[in-house]
Amino acid sequence: MNETVAPGGAELRARAQIDLAAVRANVRTLRERAPGAAFMAVVKADGYGHGAAPCARAAVAAGATWLGTATPQEALALRAPGAGVPDGVRIMCWLWTPGGPWREAIEADLDVSLSGGWALDEVVRAARLAGRPARVQLKADTGLGRGGCQPGDDWAELVARALRAEAEGLLRITGLWSHFACADEPGHPSIAAQLTRFREMVAYAESRGVDPEVRHIANSPATLTLPESHFDLVRPGIAMYGVSPSPVIGTPADLGLRPAMTLSASMALVKHVPGGHGVSYGHHYVTPGATTLGLVPLGYADGVPRHASSTGPVLVEGKWRTVAGRVAMDQFVVDLGGDEPEPGAEAVLFGPGDRGEPTAEDWAQAAGTIAYEIVTRIGTRVPRVYVNEGNEGSGT
Ligand SMILES: Cc1ncc(COP(=O)(O)O)c(C=O)c1O
Repeated sequence: MNETVAPGGAELRARAQIDLAAVRANVRTLRERAPGAAFMAVVKADGYGHGAAPCARAAVAAGATWLGTATPQEALALRAPGAGVPDGVRIMCWLWTPGGPWREAIEADLDVSLSGGWALDEVVRAARLAGRPARVQLKADTGLGRGGCQPGDDWAELVARALRAEAEGLLRITGLWSHFACADEPGHPSIAAQLTRFREMVAYAESRGVDPEVRHIANSPATLTLPESHFDLVRPGIAMYGVSPSPVIGTPADLGLRPAMTLSASMALVKHVPGGHGVSYGHHYVTPGATTLGLVPLGYADGVPRHASSTGPVLVEGKWRTVAGRVAMDQFVVDLGGDEPEPGAEAVLFGPGDRGEPTAEDWAQAAGTIAYEIVTRIGTRVPRVYVNEGNEGSGT
């Protein structure tokens, strides 16, 4: 888990500054969009690269009462005392494989997701060993075609078996839930179809006697665009970090969100080269004339996409520069067009845009991917520098 706190970070090779006031403000903005629903802050994948525990604490300070992770290990880490997550905050995890830490999850009061029989068998066995009931949430595949229980006979069987285990005191069915396939494409016909299917599957389970605390399906785009999907709880991830789920939904500013991560590096070298000089592996960039090159000490091992070779934007001394040639494992080069910043000058890959720097969305476009991947991939070699950790400052 990534949690590094350093004062300013200027002395570091590179840094991902995380503005926790932005996370708090984003959570509040999203809660205003779903006023009747509880808020589950999705902090899987180390808080989408922003640091799970600090972002979880920030989200809780802004009113989140649930945290969501993919793996049980991520969820258990948030229950560790060092994570600083207050007791009473519910933590749910949904990506289980056979032999997983079911008993630890029960003892840590996690809510665990089940999509099928093998998982039910394992959680029931663990509940017997633990001597206390598991909190389980039944996941319906309402059309995503990924995890979740298929409607029809499979759902009927899962519901029936879960109810039998509940009657034996081995588990409590705390939730019924699902996940959208195309919520980031407003108006896509699958959205209405999934909502209908979800209502049907919930109604079936409730007709058999399930009495869930929460029913939920809304990720960030649904939280932002689809009030009828909010049910009892919303489950946003990307938007709480201030990143738009998709350009078609809007920019972060359009959505009232503020990007929390600023990725920057200290220029490692600035040098003069003649025209016709090949740059980086493969010589995919050749200097068009005499110029200066700047060496940015971040590479694909740090999560800078190699697909952004020759396209990724970087702000240096107020000007946008473009990755010159290939992104290497630890470094890439920008053509500075004759400018001579001092070694150590800041190269900003992306941030909120206040200083004119590119955004994660700009990098996604440059690399032919989504902004989720840009922020989530930033590697553990890049220290996270937290600012506005307290409740003071903007957006509290
Ligand atoms: C099950 C589940 N719920 C919620 C989320 C949050 O999605 P988003 O980041 O689009 O808000 C995710 C992330 O992919 C997820 O897998």
